[in-house]
Amino acid sequence: MKKITYFMIALSLVWGSAMLPSWGQAKTVHPSREVLLKLFKQNFKDAEKQYQFLAKHLPATKFPKTYFPNTDKYEFSNSDWWCSGFYPGSLLYIYEQTKDPQTYTEALRILKDLEKEKYNTTTHDLGFMMFCSFGNANFIDPKPEYKEILLTSAKSLITRFNPTVGCIKSWDSKPSDFLVIIDNMMNLELLFWATRQTGDSTYAKVAITHANTTLKNHFRPDFSSYHVINYNTSTGLAQQKRTAQGFANESAWARGQAWGLYGYTLMYRETKKPIYLEQAKHIASFILNHPNLPADKIPFWDFNAPNIPEALRDASAASVTASALLELSTYVKGNQSKGYISAAETMLYALSKPPYKAAYGKNGGFLIKHCVGHIPQNTEVDVPLTYADYYFLEAMKRYQALK
Ligand code: GLY
Repeated sequence: MKKITYFMIALSLVWGSAMLPSWGQAKTVHPSREVLLKLFKQNFKDAEKQYQFLAKHLPATKFPKTYFPNTDKYEFSNSDWWCSGFYPGSLLYIYEQTKDPQTYTEALRILKDLEKEKYNTTTHDLGFMMFCSFGNANFIDPKPEYKEILLTSAKSLITRFNPTVGCIKSWDSKPSDFLVIIDNMMNLELLFWATRQTGDSTYAKVAITHANTTLKNHFRPDFSSYHVINYNTSTGLAQQKRTAQGFANESAWARGQAWGLYGYTLMYRETKKPIYLEQAKHIASFILNHPNLPADKIPFWDFNAPNIPEALRDASAASVTASALLELSTYVKGNQSKGYISAAETMLYALSKPPYKAAYGKNGGFLIKHCVGHIPQNTEVDVPLTYADYYFLEAMKRYQALK
């Protein structure tokens, strides 16, 4: 009897979180916090080596974009690609953990190539590009030059704000269009930072107006979101609701749901307005209770993909969702908080092993396999992507910081 009791206690310590309330139709299974913390420490060490491998394959002045394992071919980008901030940002997350000087030097090298994008007014992605990179650099080693770069970037970003629409324009298009995508919520963090630094509320006001307009128009009654809203610039009304990267106009593209969750969680962090917390909780509930969310909680690329369960998974959506859930868990209490942590643990545990975590020297040096960029365009399908790595590292850092 005693032996059985000890066995049960040991089992619940190792698989402790399996006892927590589970989300979705399948049971949550993952190791205890202690085991996960060890695993994540190892993941950071592995990431250091893996990114050294990636750095060796990077042509000067190019940024990693993706890698095609079947043909052993890389795709690189210039600094103006929306993902250019993730490589330096990931290096800096790794450096924070391992203190490897080579990793830091590589981050500083590529930041020099990225800096010119602070003047880029043709993209809404400056938050991704500049805050994930220079924001992290400034966090590690605050410097006036980083502040100037971030502030100039924030100034460039708000040139895309249209007060009639109440949004920052995402994609340039024909004059009768004003296209805003849910992803754009991620760029607002930079604006709150700019207001805090300068005392000028203009930046935060733009961010709040953008978030309020998005809250009104981007979401369906079940709190899933459209990918693209096309606004009429004369009336400010939504004239079209559709997808670009999802399966269908009315489907729930997995990464879009993750961007929305992360976006409203950060809105609550920055403003403490309950409406944003409620929105984030509703989005979390949509994702975590969705009947098509697999047991390991790595979403299919679209919650309504036609060939589920054979549809491709999108590990990048899992990374972003896990990171957002861990922050959200700190704004709620009790079982709700435990439930978010438990779901994130399941995702991060799955990402920490095959088929998602790449072995050293495989996957082109990227950390995470099996991501989906743009299926309708047939680009970046079932490949590594820089943002899957970045938000995976961020999520592990956030997990370590949990009390
Ligand atoms: N922000 C573009 C994407 O998520 O693919």
